[in-house]
Amino acid sequence: MKPKPKYHFLPFTLIILLILCYLLLHPSRVAIAASASSTVYEQRLIHSPDGIGKFYMGREIAKVMGHTGALWLERPSREAEEQPSKVVNALNLKPNYVVADIGAGTGYMSFRIAPLLTKGKVLAVDIQPEMLDIIEFLNKENNITNVEPILATLTNPNLPSESVNLALMVDAYHEFENPREVMQGIFRALKPGGKVALVEYRGENPFIMIKRLHKMSQRQAQKEMQAVGLVWRETKNLLPQQHLMVFEKPQAQ
Ligand SMILES: C[S@@+](CC[C@H](N)C(=O)[O-])C[C@H]1O[C@@H](n2cnc3c(N)ncnc32)[C@H](O)[C@@H]1O
Repeated sequence: MKPKPKYHFLPFTLIILLILCYLLLHPSRVAIAASASSTVYEQRLIHSPDGIGKFYMGREIAKVMGHTGALWLERPSREAEEQPSKVVNALNLKPNYVVADIGAGTGYMSFRIAPLLTKGKVLAVDIQPEMLDIIEFLNKENNITNVEPILATLTNPNLPSESVNLALMVDAYHEFENPREVMQGIFRALKPGGKVALVEYRGENPFIMIKRLHKMSQRQAQKEMQAVGLVWRETKNLLPQQHLMVFEKPQAQ
């Protein structure tokens, strides 16, 4: 008599394991649309611990830096490490400009720009009310009247149409949960010929000791900005570790 197979469940287990392996090795197969209105994102099961598992144009979106990191943004060593004053000088600001600092955090950049806008203002945009509270506090503390905090949503920077000369994003864009929608909002808010200045740690350089998802290559940034109609104008190579990339909203045809 033939002995009864002991492990008759094995083929089923194997099949299930094989299916699981396939799904894990082909994350795009389990992609889901991020929202009903958009299919530009995909959600993957396997992803970096520094990211949210949501991918946009091949890039994983980083986790948002919480307001408890406010002191880190204001660290005294930042001037030497990032040289933000070079960014301010390179922006060619005019006194009457309206500058939107998107992902303003504690207003580190907003408060460096505001003194140059003697007839203009900074719109300091962030999704975290706690960050805007810090900006309000610093406004009062230092008698500053031209930094206006604006509470954004995850999909909308809440800026008036065609009102902004320059939108600045410093170390922020890579963590926008809905970059396509936010950039479309920024595009609408820019005046024709208005500029976007994007500052991100250089993704091409593996020796820059910043987490991978907190860096961006020029190629990736150009692809993402182009997707909303912005035109790349120049990349200024004057910062020790970051790209300063400048894009433009074309003049109306
Ligand atoms: C790493 S901090 C940088 C802050 C500031 N730009 C600086 O250089 O000090 C990034 C900021 O972007 C904000 N942020 C994330 N997603 C955002 C979004 N969709 N719209 C506006 N701000 C956002 C976060 O709340 C956080 O304050």
